[in-house]
Amino acid sequence: MLPPDVEGWLTEAQARRLRAAAENVPEGGAMVEIGSYQGRSTIVLAGATNVIAIDPHAGNDRGPGQWDTSAREGQGDHEHFVANLERAGVRERVRHVRLPSQEALAELPGPFDAVYVDGAHRYSPALADIRAYGARVRPGGTLLIHDSFSSVGVTLAIVRQLMPSGQWTYVGRDGSLTEYRRAPAPRAKNALRQLAQLPWFARNLAIKVALTLRVRPVARALGSEEWPY
Ligand SMILES: C[S@@+](CC[C@H](N)C(=O)[O-])C[C@H]1O[C@@H](n2cnc3c(N)ncnc32)[C@H](O)[C@@H]1O
Repeated sequence: MLPPDVEGWLTEAQARRLRAAAENVPEGGAMVEIGSYQGRSTIVLAGATNVIAIDPHAGNDRGPGQWDTSAREGQGDHEHFVANLERAGVRERVRHVRLPSQEALAELPGPFDAVYVDGAHRYSPALADIRAYGARVRPGGTLLIHDSFSSVGVTLAIVRQLMPSGQWTYVGRDGSLTEYRRAPAPRAKNALRQLAQLPWFARNLAIKVALTLRVRPVARALGSEEWPY
């Protein structure tokens, strides 16, 4: 399911969840992706539906620990992105909006059938994306978020915006890819299902600290020597 030779952090199980969400987008519907990088998730989505892919490819918030790289690296991502879409044969199914997500909003018609959030992972942009794009998801539509219960910024944004809401039903997750349905849910039960993910979040933070400090035996004891996604 994952496109070969396309850099990124999406796992095979996550690709299957994304693909299933894209398959549920009706003919002529709208699927939005925030944060495309070099096209790994974009290609998965575009295998099933047309995609509006939003990424400024400016070199900021590229990936783990890469908050502020150069514009040259952003341009490199853009060139890989276009070449990878072409190689996968999905270039025509993707409309790329080369703007930061909050600026792109004004250019996009809504409502959306599904939105995949994987752009800037710091608290304030992650919260802004979940809020503003979530508000454009049609009733019954889908919101998917990468690095949930793994990135601190994304997790705090979820706790702030989605956990207490009675309007977003938590569907489940594959690793750090969570899925929400825009549908009313019993508040307490819905919040409890999400609170139950916090021990996994704590484990991920501990693994990240251990890997950053290069104490691999500790990471191994916690269950993984790989950066958690
Ligand atoms: C973790 S990567 C996305 C990975 C991609 N979904 C994949 O499967 O390979 C994050 C991306 O978000 C983009 N980004 C950073 N700030 C953004 C913003 N304000 N709006 C949209 N995208 C942004 C970066 O340029 C980067 O390509």
